[in-house]
Amino acid sequence: QATYLKDYLPPAYRVTHTELTFDLDPSATRVKARLHVERHPERDEADLPLELFGEALTLVSVAIDGQPLEPHEFQEDEKGLTITRVPARFQLDTEVEIDPDANTALEGLYRSNGMFCTQCEPEGFRRITFYPDRPDVMATFSTTVIGDAKTLPVLLSNGNPVEKGELPNGRHFVTWEDPHPKPAYLFALVAGSLEKVEDHFTTMSGREVLLQIWVEPENLDKTEHAMASLKRSMKWDEETYGREYDLDRFMIVAVNDFNMGAMENKGLNIFNSAAVLTHPQTATDATFQRVEGIVAHEYFHNWSGNRVTCRDWFQLSLKEGFTVFRDQTFSADVNSAPVKRIEDVSFFRTAQFAEDAGPTAHPVRPDHYIEISNFYTLTIYEKGAEVVRMLRHLLGWDDFRRGSDLYFERFDGQAVRIEDFVACMAEVSGLDLNQFMRWYAQAGTPEIDAHGEYDYATGHYHLRLSQRTPATPGQFDKLPLHIPVRMGLVGTKSGHDLTLKLTDESGETQTLGKDGVIHLREAEQTFVFTDVEEAPVPSLLRGFSAPVKLRYPYSREDLAFLLTHDSDGFNRWDAGQRLTLLALDDLIAAHRNGVEKVMDVRLVDAYRALLTEASDDKAVLAEMLTLPSEAYIAEQQPVVDVDAIHAAREFVRQSLAWQLRDEFLAVYHDNRSDEAYAPTPEQIAERRLKNVALAYLMSVEDEEAVTLTQQQLDQGANMTDVRAALTLLAHSDRSDLAEPALKAFGEKWAHDPLVMDQWFTIQVTRPQADVLERVRFLMNHPLFSLKNPNKVRALIGAFAQNRVNFHRLDGEGYKLLADVVIELNRLNPEIAARIITPLTRWQRFDETRQALMKAELERIRAEKLSPNVYEMVERALADA
Ligand code: ARG
Ligand code: ZN
Repeated sequence: QATYLKDYLPPAYRVTHTELTFDLDPSATRVKARLHVERHPERDEADLPLELFGEALTLVSVAIDGQPLEPHEFQEDEKGLTITRVPARFQLDTEVEIDPDANTALEGLYRSNGMFCTQCEPEGFRRITFYPDRPDVMATFSTTVIGDAKTLPVLLSNGNPVEKGELPNGRHFVTWEDPHPKPAYLFALVAGSLEKVEDHFTTMSGREVLLQIWVEPENLDKTEHAMASLKRSMKWDEETYGREYDLDRFMIVAVNDFNMGAMENKGLNIFNSAAVLTHPQTATDATFQRVEGIVAHEYFHNWSGNRVTCRDWFQLSLKEGFTVFRDQTFSADVNSAPVKRIEDVSFFRTAQFAEDAGPTAHPVRPDHYIEISNFYTLTIYEKGAEVVRMLRHLLGWDDFRRGSDLYFERFDGQAVRIEDFVACMAEVSGLDLNQFMRWYAQAGTPEIDAHGEYDYATGHYHLRLSQRTPATPGQFDKLPLHIPVRMGLVGTKSGHDLTLKLTDESGETQTLGKDGVIHLREAEQTFVFTDVEEAPVPSLLRGFSAPVKLRYPYSREDLAFLLTHDSDGFNRWDAGQRLTLLALDDLIAAHRNGVEKVMDVRLVDAYRALLTEASDDKAVLAEMLTLPSEAYIAEQQPVVDVDAIHAAREFVRQSLAWQLRDEFLAVYHDNRSDEAYAPTPEQIAERRLKNVALAYLMSVEDEEAVTLTQQQLDQGANMTDVRAALTLLAHSDRSDLAEPALKAFGEKWAHDPLVMDQWFTIQVTRPQADVLERVRFLMNHPLFSLKNPNKVRALIGAFAQNRVNFHRLDGEGYKLLADVVIELNRLNPEIAARIITPLTRWQRFDETRQALMKAELERIRAEKLSPNVYEMVERALADA
């Protein structure tokens, strides 16, 4: 039941205009659809049947040009409706009944807290009405929503409201028109008892746009930041990409039950409340920044996704990769750019590298799938964004922008492919991007081995790079990729970047400046730099210029040198990470061999220097002081030893805390502020730095630190500080303080679901051994529900990231996750298929754990499975 890219055919019929009427009822909503249909010009064969997708619909009637169809004139099955003979051009009328309250999958039309809402991407529209539900069918929409005037005072859909009125029996209606042709996945409807916050934006050509954020009444005070972020995004897209908004209004709605972060429906973005609501007292700095990024992401989709959309779902990264790249750059521009890059890359190297190395690895453009919902992955989104970023490196900003302009102009109103985007970039720059296209086709993380040699006599520096991409499921032989390596050579005497003069065999020299991009295209390639005046340490892959693993035999002295002298903020941070990883390697080995652990003094010295030398960028400093996560350390090990990694990392944390106690305390005090909360980069950096310092001190339960933590919690200045303090107490062994604090917090915030999500997470991410029992206990908490994806993520998802406890040797962690997957498989297959991920990574662990994890996967496989979970389990067990 797989779908293959190579089988693509244009649809036999297209829809030019779609008229919908919804008569809303919680369990029996009626949907009438009138589709204006015509034969597709590229498939102009007579007598092709009309194929309409439809799932979980009860057909009431179907007619062509006003003539009801006889039962023998169409076939209905669980996938949809086929009408055998249709004219070349006609009107199709259907009526169906659907049951929003029975919809726990949260795809199509469903109810959340009494509010009706929709999620149609990728294939949810077929749960609303019979339709050629594929992105290459684009129509204008006119939607009438009818509902009870009392309980559903607000009725929203895409575009502009054109008519409204009262109806008998206390009902009312609103008709919406969306003049921009769109695929059905961008359709949206919202109805409920909502209130709004309004603002305005004047576009660059002088048009007034009404901006609205719709929320439940108690959340009206949590919209300010999202609104400010929206206005910033609209301005940024005009200034940076020349893109202007194209409707008279732009609406955002916050919904509690939502599978993903948010959805870019035309003119009516629907958001998970967790991705839009903020308030200093309820949301952390990280949430403020995440909201800003997601608001921008969805807004940017209006061009990269909506005006120009995907021909088919294999092209998903066309819109997602580009849009993630756009939102990352936006966030970098309005916050600290190096920190944004550090955050994105450390997440990427932990999570996407793991995906690319596991059984569910797939290319940025997959060539087949069973369930497309399973492909909203880190590879499609984040690696896709890295690939676009590489294009930007290869072309430079000016050509990249010209390529982007050409793409939007040439393909406006069309559904296109990834090669159409890349072809625009090739056309404006004259670059040959054929080899580059392999990035879209080959899965797996390329590995680069680098060796450098300096010749004192000639002043030549030879840099030898070799690349190889490991085999991934279904792809054994990989070809060399076109990889942009941004680099510098840092003089060991001067501590400065040396001028890069790249010289080829014929003696031709190209001056790249002090920071340049070299193009690696061959499996092995040597780059010669001439007139290198002093012995350098190479700084390679600056800013993480390509999504690869780069190995270079750096000594600890080299790394300490780069840590202080690299002009690239990202690589300075990365040098610190590499230095720490070397120390951790020794400690992990010591732990396994039962040898006493000894702290590397060079690491202590490096941290002392960071803490005492005045730093102008506090945000970067906070990142530098943050140890690599257990998950990232695990990524570096051939076989993951969960306990050794935890013990080694704790040892480093505590050693640093003992030896640099006064320095950490000073940082804590220097970064306390009485200013009123604002989510500014400066304040965020100070809070981060302060809380990082406190976390070190709390790792050894320093008496003074315990007092400071308790004070910070009691002061309750903002959720960032409160959550940091509560987490530190809850994760310490001071249960005398932790338990009352958790209890008080839980009572204080019981009315706020988003704060309670944090309360669940804090408890199940503790290192203490009682966590699994706590998860089982909390699953019965009255505020927990498996039907709410945010709760599932906050409790179960967070627990599965708690490495020492999830990977317990008695297998109880795996069993708990499998139980949840089995239950969610029935309720919400998309979430079930996502939450199962940690179990699919069994190959990375020791034999005992492998066997336990596989046994749970087998137990899941024995169930009657949704296509979503079936596909994940089959891939996970493929070479077991
Ligand atoms: N297009 C949305 C976004 O990236 C995500 C929607 C995904 N939907 C889904 N059912 N997986 O903003
Ligand atoms: Zn997106």
